[in-house]
Amino acid sequence: MEPLITTKPPGPSAVAVLKRDAEVISQSMARHYPLVLERAQDVNLWDVDGNRYLDFTAGFAVMNVGWNHPKVVNAIQQQATLLTHGAFLAFCSETPVTFAQRLTEFLPPSLNRVCLTNSGAESVEAAMKLARYHTGGKYFIAFSNGFHGRTYGALSLTSTKAIQRAGFGPFLPVLHAPFPNPYRPQGCESTDASLAALEDIFKREVPAEEVAAIFVEPIQGEGGYIIPPKPFLREIRALCDELGILLVVDEVQTGCYRTGTFLASEQFGVKPDIVCLSKAIGGGLPLGAMVASEEVTTWLPGSHAGTFAGNNVACAAGLAVLDILSGEGFGAHVVDAGLHLLQRLNELQQDYDLIGDVRGMGLMAAIELVLSKETKEPATEERRVILNDAFENGLALLPAGESAIRFCPPLTIEKGDIDIGVEILRRSLKRVG
Ligand SMILES: Cc1ncc(COP(=O)(O)O)c(C=O)c1O
Repeated sequence: MEPLITTKPPGPSAVAVLKRDAEVISQSMARHYPLVLERAQDVNLWDVDGNRYLDFTAGFAVMNVGWNHPKVVNAIQQQATLLTHGAFLAFCSETPVTFAQRLTEFLPPSLNRVCLTNSGAESVEAAMKLARYHTGGKYFIAFSNGFHGRTYGALSLTSTKAIQRAGFGPFLPVLHAPFPNPYRPQGCESTDASLAALEDIFKREVPAEEVAAIFVEPIQGEGGYIIPPKPFLREIRALCDELGILLVVDEVQTGCYRTGTFLASEQFGVKPDIVCLSKAIGGGLPLGAMVASEEVTTWLPGSHAGTFAGNNVACAAGLAVLDILSGEGFGAHVVDAGLHLLQRLNELQQDYDLIGDVRGMGLMAAIELVLSKETKEPATEERRVILNDAFENGLALLPAGESAIRFCPPLTIEKGDIDIGVEILRRSLKRVG
């Protein structure tokens, strides 16, 4: 199905909604183009004027099993007739328990205690609290250019863009070390330099005994889909083991087969002490999980909970998602489609000097736009124009980092749709020059 733009977006219905949106909704959100959604199915989005778009966003890596998957919709409908809110913090119900048990089957066996949440940031907050509680350490370490969410603890770890932190300090005590970036290895951005910076932190700023946890994304998501060198995560794991610091891996964006395996950290050969999940596990409903081992989960009844955590409808949707993900060949399809996407993007790079780098793992891929391949100066304005042009021609894309375009379609996408999307992007690149 070719995307079908019949009314130049934003059309009259979209303009009317956007006007009301501007009058009432907090202006703190940064929208990239004026898309007003009405419905969605698998890899297709429809706006309120009847235009159809091919989706390369999965709504920020949420709709991994495709938008409105019939099994997810059916599970939501069935559960809604029985029990929606179950006050899981005080009363037990079966669906959240089944979901948690099923989730642990996808994880390393040591990760067997599930704390249910409603979002990525809540999963991160829970991990910060548990790490402090269990270790007695007060400090956290995270990586520069990392993103972990926008609540106070999560925002303290986040260091992607100044605008996300400006005006909100002071923050929790977090020290940031550089994250290795293979495309921009100058400065101190190799694995060795990152480890040296960590050692320096322990020598000069805070002793390791006072550090509760190191938080890391296996691949930096909002920071630009930056894939560190293979040994990086293993080195961090070894350092945590040596110093008795917990390793928290934030798989909120990379999890649920986005990279071809349930957790991206599997591909780096690393087992976290705590893993944070959200986004795709709810199939479009707000659901998250912080999962740790029995030994680490030492907190007492009453020490952490939330009114909506363990919502029955969200967990029913999550169960349907896990069912779909466990289908024969799901991960293999992601790897195969991801290689196809990378090949198409590499072909684009041959034709357009604006594309400085192409990178990806599974269906988590990006191109980085630069003004010159020598200086690698970010082409931020060109990116804005390209994203808007692609949108006007029926392709939904999102930025990441300073000048990257991310490709994170529903994992159900077929090669034919990847080709259609890349061709729309090619035409946008041509128009920009
Ligand atoms: C790696 C990572 N952690 C945490 C979050 C925060 O998730 P949420 O927006 O659901 O709070 C995000 C969101 O993009 C993320 O990518």
